[in-house]
Amino acid sequence: MSIVKLHVNGTDREVDTDPSTPLLYVLRNDLGLRGPRFGCGLGQCGACTVIVDGAAIRSCTTQVSQVRGQITTLEGLSKDGKLDPLQQAWIDEQVPQCGYCQNGQIMTAKALLGRNPNPTDAQIRTAMEGALCRCMTYYRVQAAIKRVARRETVK
Ligand code: FES
Ligand code: FES
Repeated sequence: MSIVKLHVNGTDREVDTDPSTPLLYVLRNDLGLRGPRFGCGLGQCGACTVIVDGAAIRSCTTQVSQVRGQITTLEGLSKDGKLDPLQQAWIDEQVPQCGYCQNGQIMTAKALLGRNPNPTDAQIRTAMEGALCRCMTYYRVQAAIKRVARRETVK
């Protein structure tokens, strides 16, 4: 065990853990952040996605000691009780069904819009292809992303 320092959702955190522990386990079990989900544990479904310095990463296959930079989880998207525009778009488009994959969908979309505020349909499909959904919410995910992109474009 050793002390690992993390910067999560704008706050410095320390955890006493095995450095090889997956980031996902630390976020959920040590820090109580239940947004990222365990799906496959193999980097293949996207349910565990978090953002590190603007990039979407799989927290299930990332050792906690490897993480440098600012970690944002689903809990870090809303500010002062106000939903992120992407979360609001998710509600407006009624995207989720069972909900299990939705952390991965939202966090992957957030990273996409961070680097490309007005993506084409093809760019959305490419960016989102690793975020799997057994309920087939893909069309509504795309609609929610485009809803936010339109807002950004109109400003
Ligand atoms: S749980 Fe991490 S990619 Fe599936
Ligand atoms: S909403 Fe059920 S797996 Fe995506």
